[in-house]
Order: sequence, then C-alpha cells, then structure tokens
Amino acid sequence: MQKKVKLGVIGGGFMAQAIVNGAIQTGFLNPDDVIVSEPDESKRTLFLQRGINACNDNRMICHFCDYLLLAIKPQVFPSVAEELKGEPLPVLISIMAGKTIASILQATGAKHVARIMPNLPCSVGAGMSGIDDSMLSEQDRIFTRGLFSSVGEIVEVEERLLNAVTGISGSGPAYVYLFYQSLVQAGMGQGLSETQASKLAFQTIMGGMEMLRSTGSSPEALIAAVSSKGGTTVAALNSFEADDFMGSVKRAVDAAVRRSEELSK
Ligand SMILES: NC(=O)c1ccc[n+]([C@@H]2O[C@H](COP(=O)([O-])OP(=O)(O)OC[C@H]3O[C@@H](n4cnc5c(N)ncnc54)[C@H](OP(=O)(O)O)[C@@H]3O)[C@@H](O)[C@H]2O)c1
Repeated sequence: MQKKVKLGVIGGGFMAQAIVNGAIQTGFLNPDDVIVSEPDESKRTLFLQRGINACNDNRMICHFCDYLLLAIKPQVFPSVAEELKGEPLPVLISIMAGKTIASILQATGAKHVARIMPNLPCSVGAGMSGIDDSMLSEQDRIFTRGLFSSVGEIVEVEERLLNAVTGISGSGPAYVYLFYQSLVQAGMGQGLSETQASKLAFQTIMGGMEMLRSTGSSPEALIAAVSSKGGTTVAALNSFEADDFMGSVKRAVDAAVRRSEELSK
C-alpha cells in the first residue's frame, strides 16, 4: 500500500460493514478510499469483492489513512492498543461501547479521538448515532459527521451523555421490537392470524411515527387526536396508565444506562 486512503478500519465485522457500505452507497466515500484490517479471511473477501482494500495488519493501516475507525469489540481493544502504541496514529474514531476517550488516548498514545455510539439500524441506513467529537478540528468533525450521517441520523452530545444515548437509541431498537411483538401477540389473542396481526401492528407503528415526523405535532396532540371521551383508545390508555407504562419504560432505560456506566469502568 503506497497511497494514503481516507478511512482505515480495524475490525471488519457487522458494524464496520454497515458503516463502510453506507458511506460508499451514499457516495461519501469511494471503495478505494477505505482499507480494512480484519483477521477473518471470509470477512476480508466481502470487502475485497466490493473493491475495498482489506488486509490483516492493524499496524500497517494506520500509516496509510487519515482517519482510523476502531470497530473491534471492547474486549479485543487492549491487544489492538498494544499493537498501535508507538505508531504515528491518525485521528481515531471509536464505536466501542464503554471505552472512554481518556482510556483510548491513554492506551494508544493517540492525540485525537472521537467517540460514537451508533445503533443496529445503521445497517439499513436508518441508524442513530450519538457523537462526541469535541476533540477534533472542524475539518475532522466534518468527516466524522459525514461518515455517520451516511448511515442515518446523528446527534452531538457530551461524552458523559453517551451512556444515556446507549440507553435510548443504542438499546432502543430492542424496545421497539418488544412493543411490536406485544401488539402482535395481543392481536393473535383476539383471534387475528399472525400474518394479519403482524401487518396491523407493523403499519400502525410505522404510520404513527411517520405522522409524528411529517406533521410536526406533539405526541400529546396526536394521542388526543386518536382519543375520544369514553372511547376505545382511552380505555387502552387508562389500562397502560394503571400499569405505569411510562414508569416501566423509564426503569428499563435507567437499567440500560446503569449497565452502560458499569461497562465503562
Ligand atoms: N452491533 C451493534 O449494534 C453495535 C452498536 C453500537 C456499538 N457497537 C460497537 O461496535 C463494535 C463492533 O461491533 P460489531 O457488532 O461490529 O462486532 P463484530 O461483528 O464482532 O466485529 C468485530 C470484528 O473485529 C474483528 N477482530 C477481532 N480481533 C481483531 C483484531 N485483533 N484486529 C482486527 N480485527 C479484529 C472480529 O473478527 P473475528 O470475528 O474473526 O474475531 C470481527 O470481525 C463493538 O465495539 C461494539 O461495542 C456495536
């Protein structure tokens, strides 16, 4: 490898594939702007087949990229940091859960680190990422934000709030699937087939969110629009309230945030 590329990636797993593919599909990067270091040959082949450079040499790639995305599991990080220490490191962009900017700086000797908490829907271009890139220059921020905007939406937060981001959007897709699953099961309990209940539940969630997005109305206003006094929606909402539905969601988010804080220690 002679020429410098824009983005080096350490770890070519699920998230790296999602982010690199998204950035290429949206035209933010060209395939030859990227080099991935990944030990698994079958994963390297996936990148190579798309014209993306791939190798199994973490140390080498940091010499040839402007930005280095750390997309390895947190438990693998100490050994990767050992390999990188002493190398002339470019700007690091970490998506590792629970690894703080201070710990990454200390372990690698890097000078600039951005920390991002993306989520699973990045793999279909509908992701949500919390970003702390406050250490980066304006030019480096433009790159980092462009990269994650190519796989969804971004929100800028202070690092201390990334645990909260994890509790909302990081783990959040699972909450949505749980609510969907609960609606489907309730529908089946009322005699609908699984196909019918799934279609009703899916389109209701999608339609409800699309209405929130496109009208700009508040959830309260939209709830009021579906509710008439003494009607069916009010009967259901009263039942949710009696079961402290909002309290249950809050406790679940608190549990996720606490766990994220524990994992960051
Ligand atoms: N998945 C999510 O929804 C999500 C959301 C937010 C943040 N994250 C974060 O994203 C990071 C990656 O997650 P993931 O789901 O993409 O995991 P993953 O699919 O397991 O990807 C990690 C990749 O790193 C490779 N690897 C292992 N040791 C390596 C080494 N020494 N050098 C280079 N590569 C190495 C693994 O190869 P082998 O499989 O051969 O070991 C694997 O392909 C994690 O830190 C996670 O916390 C994930």
